[in-house]
Amino acid sequence: MALQSVKGFKDILPPESERTAAFEALARGVLESFGFRELRLPVVEAQELFVKATGETTDIVEKEMFVLTDAGGRNLALRPEGTPGAVRAFLQHNLNLQGGRTKLYYIGSMFRAERPQAGRFREFEQIGAEAFGNGHPSADVETILALARILDGAGLKGRYTVHLNNLGCERPECRPAYRAKLLEFLRSVADTLCENCKRRLERNPLRALDCKGDGPKLKANPATPQLAPCAECHAHFETVKTLLPAGGLAFELDPNLVRGLDYYTRTVFELRSADVGSQDALAGGGRYDGLIKSMGGPDVPATGWALGVERVLMALKAAGSIAAPPHPEVYVAVQAESPELEKAAFTAMQSLRDFCRVEGALFGHSLKSQMREADRLGATFAVIFGPSEFSEGKCTVKDLRAKDQQSQTAIAELAKEIRSRLNA
Ligand code: HAM
Repeated sequence: MALQSVKGFKDILPPESERTAAFEALARGVLESFGFRELRLPVVEAQELFVKATGETTDIVEKEMFVLTDAGGRNLALRPEGTPGAVRAFLQHNLNLQGGRTKLYYIGSMFRAERPQAGRFREFEQIGAEAFGNGHPSADVETILALARILDGAGLKGRYTVHLNNLGCERPECRPAYRAKLLEFLRSVADTLCENCKRRLERNPLRALDCKGDGPKLKANPATPQLAPCAECHAHFETVKTLLPAGGLAFELDPNLVRGLDYYTRTVFELRSADVGSQDALAGGGRYDGLIKSMGGPDVPATGWALGVERVLMALKAAGSIAAPPHPEVYVAVQAESPELEKAAFTAMQSLRDFCRVEGALFGHSLKSQMREADRLGATFAVIFGPSEFSEGKCTVKDLRAKDQQSQTAIAELAKEIRSRLNA
């Protein structure tokens, strides 16, 4: 059998590739309107970066990283997420010294060796945004509003829910106190937990809360301890809850939302679609005020998110909000095999391409098969170069939507004629 793509890795063919590009363009426009600037990150980083930043006890680092060793024996990894690389770049290039806030976005493939299924791939595309240097809750809200604006602009308005939670901070009386209480509780009900939760109980008890099986049971159990955030974390979250609706965005509080990455503090969120099956998280993120410092940098607060492009496109398809793929506006054909006609056709195609999409050049085939191709491609107009009109300096323009409408135009006037018909 011919070679196939590797399991979990996919080709993106037209029109999916065009939908992807159109969505990326929309996202860039929105992010830039919020003041984010593009950061292009390497696909490969030191493996250690993810162990330190994403977290040693996360599924991503424990079992999903594609790791490799280069000829010099260095341990590398294909990036499973963008945040650690963004933080590394921020520190490496002293972006904090540029003063004030640094708002960056990235678009690109991420790699996780997860079990492939609908909406879950081993190579997938993320669009991510990271805002460094603003500890105020308004930064959390602004980044979430940018995300919602992208999804709304794509056609998903009203088709996703915003789940919000407060994870507190590392002050002893805040999350550590809660973590200890939760651990004690989970130990007491350990025999009812799944193998996965039992295994990571001691190292990462909070993850039990978002386990697909145990999470809902723990949520329903009134004995499950709840986070009592410290005064600062409480006030921060209250402001987030007030500002989000001021920005026009409704949310649901979700005390079980803990996210699968270790670096979060305070606000965490996920935007979920009801249209795409079990892999329903279109995007997720939150605040990570301790990460930059823990990576050896200054004490700079940060907040951000990443969305999964494939999942957003799946949700758009389910919602029926998929734009028709682009089709040529003009199809250029020749009526007879003749170097002169073909030359004239090429010249015309080049000048028409200054302002519209042009197909053609199936020269050497009958006019009938050229017109069949024009139909198949969904062209709006056909321009036909035939010997008798050509001898008078003219060509034929045919409106393919109104079958029998055709007229002759001076070749010198063709571009003007097509332009005015397209604008009509
Ligand atoms: P995450 O929740 O791991 O967060 O991923 C963000 C989004 O990427 C998910 O909501 C989902 O749409 C998509 N995604 C994740 N894994 C897959 C997969 N295997 N196949 C398809 N899509 C997937 C992060 O990565 C954080 N770096 C977000 C962040 C940025 N937090 C702060 N700043």
